[in-house]
Amino acid sequence: MSNPLKVALLGAGGITRSHLPAYLEHPDRVELVAICDMDEPRAAALAGEAGIDSIYTDFNTMLREADIDAVDNCTFHPAHAPLSITAMEAGKHVLVEKPMAMSVQECEDMIAVADKTGMTLMIAQDLRYSPEAVCVKRLIDDGKLGDIHAGRTHLMQKFGVGHDRYADAKQGGGILMSVQIHHIDLLRYYMGNVKRVTAVCKSVTDTMANNAEDLVTAILEFESGAVGNVFAFPGDTPMDIVDGKRTRSDREYIVYGSEGTIHSTPQTDRNMAHFGEVLFAPLTGKSAGEFTPVDTSDAGTPSLKPFVNQILHFEECIRTNTEPFSSGRDNIDTMKIIFAIWESSKTGKAVELKNL
Ligand SMILES: NC(=O)c1ccc[n+]([C@@H]2O[C@H](COP(=O)([O-])OP(=O)(O)OC[C@H]3O[C@@H](n4cnc5c(N)ncnc54)[C@H](O)[C@@H]3O)[C@@H](O)[C@H]2O)c1
Repeated sequence: MSNPLKVALLGAGGITRSHLPAYLEHPDRVELVAICDMDEPRAAALAGEAGIDSIYTDFNTMLREADIDAVDNCTFHPAHAPLSITAMEAGKHVLVEKPMAMSVQECEDMIAVADKTGMTLMIAQDLRYSPEAVCVKRLIDDGKLGDIHAGRTHLMQKFGVGHDRYADAKQGGGILMSVQIHHIDLLRYYMGNVKRVTAVCKSVTDTMANNAEDLVTAILEFESGAVGNVFAFPGDTPMDIVDGKRTRSDREYIVYGSEGTIHSTPQTDRNMAHFGEVLFAPLTGKSAGEFTPVDTSDAGTPSLKPFVNQILHFEECIRTNTEPFSSGRDNIDTMKIIFAIWESSKTGKAVELKNL
């Protein structure tokens, strides 16, 4: 690889504004050299913000002409697998936005091409790269929660308005693929792989197209024996303000162990993405102890911004030839949870992930 890693952004939509700071703040490690979007004004606008003048409207032309080591794929969901495969076959490492792909077969194809070409394939599950997630994972791995018995996550969000494509089942949309995949992936990061799923999904608001789900209730059975619950509903949560702080969130996760509990809090700072600080309470005797914020001062992440950390992790993995925490090989097991939720809701039966 070049030093710094030379990257092209593929897609110049909303999420690239969260990717851009990594390139602007750490040009010594990741240099943004080109931008490609089939919508030229979008590509030009992003190039202006990034201070570069190399723009393309055709991906294959960019692959042929631009001097790049890697592609940061921020396109629509159905384009994730085909364009990532094309990039790897052209000898480019790939960071691809979530969701990894549209089917188990596509995920397997991407992993196979990464293996064949030796390219790094990483999925942008940015929450894993937050200082909070790094420290919670460390607490769990150090046994501070004891045996993990259960986890749950809920999301209350009216989805679809202004997100047509991402709320359309025919275009890989729905609340699971578009939003809750982050929280499901985090539960899996903390609790390990899931072996069985039982679920009901519904499409209950007219902002969702082609029966894309916005109501979900799912029971997860983890390989460890722990259980989990995933719930989504397109409604409002009252946001109580106490001492200037929100006390209830439209999204949260909880992990229950034999020795303690982890609980996310509402987001107060955009940089923290999706959640605020995370609280930990050790179990004292028969009741929970006092919840206090997990100390993130020694997280060791280069930035407070998860998106910056994930792009620097991508660069580090390529430089050191190591597998990313959210590699394709890892992420297929997050994707299978969502495919199993859909399958169970369709058939009314429990779905074993090993059968997918
Ligand atoms: N991590 C997060 O928190 C987060 C948040 C929002 C979106 N996302 C994900 O990021 C991805 C992009 O989302 P967005 O909101 O930026 O979408 P967007 O619709 O704003 O932008 C996507 C861009 O990709 C371009 N594009 C699509 N196919 C292309 C092709 N073949 N060649 C060139 N350009 C192409 C489109 O023209 C468009 O400008 C999605 O996968 C989405 O789920 C992640």
